[in-house]
Amino acid sequence: MRQDCRYSEVFGNIPTPFYFYDMDLFRKTVDMLASLSSRFGIRVHYAIKANTEERLLRHMSSFGFGADCVSGNEVLHAAHCGFAPADIVFAGVGKTDREIRESLALGIGTFNCESLQEIEVVNALAGSMGVKANVSVRINPDIDAHTHKYVTTGLYENKFGISRHEFDPLVDLIGRCGSVSFQGLHFHIGSQITDVEEVYGLECRRASEIVRWFEDRGLAVRNIDLGGGLGVDYEDPDGNPVADFETWFNTIASSLPLRPGQTVHVEPGRSVVAQCGSLISRVLFVKSGETKTFLILDAGMNDLVRPALYGAYHRIENLSAAQRLELQHNAGQGHASGTEAGQDAGEEMQVYDVVGPVCESSDVWGAGRLLPQSGRGDIMAIRSAGAYGQVMASRYNLRDLAPAVYSDDLDGQYNA
Ligand code: LLP
Repeated sequence: MRQDCRYSEVFGNIPTPFYFYDMDLFRKTVDMLASLSSRFGIRVHYAIKANTEERLLRHMSSFGFGADCVSGNEVLHAAHCGFAPADIVFAGVGKTDREIRESLALGIGTFNCESLQEIEVVNALAGSMGVKANVSVRINPDIDAHTHKYVTTGLYENKFGISRHEFDPLVDLIGRCGSVSFQGLHFHIGSQITDVEEVYGLECRRASEIVRWFEDRGLAVRNIDLGGGLGVDYEDPDGNPVADFETWFNTIASSLPLRPGQTVHVEPGRSVVAQCGSLISRVLFVKSGETKTFLILDAGMNDLVRPALYGAYHRIENLSAAQRLELQHNAGQGHASGTEAGQDAGEEMQVYDVVGPVCESSDVWGAGRLLPQSGRGDIMAIRSAGAYGQVMASRYNLRDLAPAVYSDDLDGQYNA
């Protein structure tokens, strides 16, 4: 999002809360991902669970990216949004028979299977339909991704993937499954990974040992899917608007030797869409307690559950205050230094507990946040909300779902 205070003018005419998508930043991020992935020869399957907005998906599919899906509906939606079925991978620990059948009928690229029993079921269903299912097997590499416990998925004895003690039975099983064609191995160790070189370097070294183990036993591992997880900068979205795909791909290229015929796949979700999205809200009330001042917004945890669910940090900005500051500055009364959204830029600051309207005490956007003096009606941006935001929204308290607003549709208004 360009931190342009004119936004608050345009946003002032739109009912809040809503998700705002900065399409210029989105396209820039996708361009970067496309050019780097082709330079490194890495296949990208966008993890659509992060954001399933059709406009975003159609743009990505037009680049020839694949899709990583985790439910039958995601598979169907990805195909509807232009992803070639052959480039769709379907992961998830609990695929239903119906989801498997529908995906087989569609001709998806690969089932990323997460248990031995799932492989048997996929084999049986494919056999009954007279087709062959491409299968990769998700391996649990027992790696600590140094991230939140709810989004680390590669530790030993996780519900995800197959662990070492099942490797021998797996080789046996694949040999017996006539309707399954083994494609390779799948790993995904967690999300919001910021120790990129260390964590992905370890994942690659572990993956390469495991690949060798299977190839030594006669299974050709053509595809090595390293999953997603690349982190973004929630503290400074304007300083680092595009995720560091280059360090990620460099780490992979230098830590995972490939033999001819092998392809590396990745499944980024958050890193593609987080920074282009903001949840836009209004201040409803300012409530002064004895020791705290509450800023009550019209957006709540039902709109964006990450702070309540994971204690996640999202930067909060008062766009109206930024505009006031600019007006003052233009009138020659202030001395705006041009920093973000008026924060730390000469405006009077105050500490607030920024909260939502939902009937839960965990409905808190941020406690003790230093913000410019804020008042009823001010437009607030909750930043880096493009990933796991709109898709995780609910109608709790029978609240309306926040709709999407795209910068492309506002062009001419804020550029005026
Ligand atoms: N591949 C697999 C198999 C996954 O399970 C995930 C995410 C991804 C790829 C994409 O990971 P990403 O690049 O987005 O980190 N709701 C949580 C995040 C859950 C991630 C689940 N799996 C959050 O808001 O932080």
